[in-house]
Formats: sequence, structure tokens, C-alpha cells
Amino acid sequence: MSQIFEALQRAEAERSGGSLPKNADSVADLLQGVEQEIARKQSLSELPAAAKAESPKAGSFASAKVLLPAPAADSRLVCLTDQGSLAAEKFRVLGLKLRNLRERRKLKRIAVTGTAPEEGKSLVAANLALNQARSKVLKTLLLDGDLRRPTLSSRFGFDRSLPGLSECLRGERQLAEVVYKVSGSGLWFLPAGRLPENPLELMQTGRLPEVLDRLGEFFDWIIIDTPPVLPVADTTFWMKLADGVLVVIREGVTEKKAIERALDSFDRAALLGVVVNSCSRIEHTDYYSRYGQATVRTGEDPPSAENE
Ligand SMILES: Nc1ncnc2c1ncn2[C@@H]1O[C@H](COP(=O)(O)OP(=O)(O)O)[C@@H](O)[C@H]1O
Ligand SMILES: [Mg+2]
Repeated sequence: MSQIFEALQRAEAERSGGSLPKNADSVADLLQGVEQEIARKQSLSELPAAAKAESPKAGSFASAKVLLPAPAADSRLVCLTDQGSLAAEKFRVLGLKLRNLRERRKLKRIAVTGTAPEEGKSLVAANLALNQARSKVLKTLLLDGDLRRPTLSSRFGFDRSLPGLSECLRGERQLAEVVYKVSGSGLWFLPAGRLPENPLELMQTGRLPEVLDRLGEFFDWIIIDTPPVLPVADTTFWMKLADGVLVVIREGVTEKKAIERALDSFDRAALLGVVVNSCSRIEHTDYYSRYGQATVRTGEDPPSAENE
């Protein structure tokens, strides 16, 4: 199984090397398809005045405000800054698997989650979205659905106070006002916006399904970066709204039991696969040390060990 973490770290070295290693397509094992469609129930309710007044015309996002990305040198947004790297290649293969899967099932909204903070969820979501956005035909939105600890704006080097989803859900902004175009990438971006006092309450107002429906009228891919599934109830809410879920785990950190608990927290039919982020050289924070010894080894294991 592919190890995106390692790939990201090796990216700079590989870039100058020209051709990609023979095992570059091993990332195919990252993803195992499932055939059943997610049973998705939408609870539509009254929209705020600003949202009501908005017509969901396809053109509303085509003329979105353009943001110039200014990622830091260590942003690891390889699909934006280092297309020739091995890591970017692995995201391309992951994207290809998703496109193939899409031919067999409904697959537009993809939630990227994990079991705990700092497993690389946001990084995987951002690179996957950047990769999907390279298509000239299919339109891709990266949605920062982490209303507790959003990181995508700063990773791209955008103003962190950009109005986003929370303003839209509150009815303070129209949807078209908070969807931005990322210059030079083909990607659209919907930031989390101002942190709500109670994210779950805001998500449960019933407006979110309608927002996603309207986004879905224009976008072909909606990649949703979510909080970790275990400690945060709002992630489960995202799971219900997604067509498929990618679970990011960090090799040497994420415990097998935590993965099992995470998988139990949403409909297994929605599981697209597990993305393994392995990086032995990253120093773990105190948070991680609570997890103790690594129990998940994915590098040479058969993919079936992580996907069921
Ligand atoms: N492949 C990687 N190599 C090195 N550092 C990484 C890698 N992936 C993520 N990180 C770092 O780990 C931290 C957590 O990543 P992030 O994607 O924000 O995790 P999450 O969304 O799961 O909380 C960030 O500081 C990020 O830069
Ligand atoms: Mg994150």
C-alpha cells in the first residue's frame, strides 16, 4: 500500500530525478471500491433570506472571486507546487481510481476524515482536490468542512478570515459570495469561515444539505475536509451527506482499534478506502504519544487488511 507521507517527504529528491519509480502505481491499493450507494437522507428546511434570494445558476461560481495562492515552502501542496514529484503522482493514481469508481456508482461528494487530529486529512483533501481540478472538463470544489479547526486557508496562504460556509449557513452571505476560485489551479474553494460557537448546531439547522445540493449543480467533485470522526460528532453529519468517505490514517500512530471505531461510526457502504500517511521521521506531538505503540502496519500488508 502506498505511503503518501513518505512520498511527500521524498518529493523534492524525486523531482530532480526525472522518471518515477516502478512502484509509483502501488497507490492503487489505497482505494478499494464498494458498490452500494450511500443511503442519503436530506432534511430540507427553511433557508435564510440571503440564500433564498440566490438563484443556483451554473454561472454563479464561474465568476467567483479569484484568490492567489501563496503556500508556504513547507505547505506540501505537491499537486500545486510540485507536479513532477512522486507524491503528486500518487495523488494522480488515487484520483484515477476515484474516477473509475465513479463510473460504477454515484460519487461526487467525498468526505476525507480520520480518527484523530494531525493525521494529514487536510493535506490529503487539498492535494486530492488539486489533482481532480486539473481536469479541464470536471469542476472541483475543495470544501473546508472542519468548522472547529480549519487549516486549508492558511495552507494555501489565503486570508484566514475569509467568509465561508459558516456565514452561508447563518444566512449572512450567499453561497456564491463564499466560493472562490484558486488562481492557476482550476480549483474552487469554500473556506470554513468564522468559527461558530456550536458547529454541530449550525450544521444541524438543515441548511447544509441544500447548500451541498446547490454546489452539486455546478461541481463534479466536492472534496470535503472534515474533522476527525471519533471525538467530533459533526463529522458523522458530514458522513451522512457524502457519497463516499476516505479515511486517512497515520502509520505508526493510529491504533487499529481507533480505526475500527471510526469505521463503525458511519455506513460502511460509504467507505471508499484508507489512505495511509506514513512518516517515521515526523516528531509526534504529546497528543500522539497517548496512542502508544504503532499497531497498524500498512506498507506491505495486503490491502484487504485495511479495507473491508
Ligand atoms: N506528508 C507529510 N509530511 C510532513 N508533514 C506532514 C505531512 N502531512 C501532514 N503533515 C503535517 O502534519 C500536520 C497535520 O496535517 P493536517 O493535514 O493538517 O492534519 P489533519 O487535517 O488530519 O489534522 C500539518 O502541520 C502538516 O503540515
Ligand atoms: Mg485538518
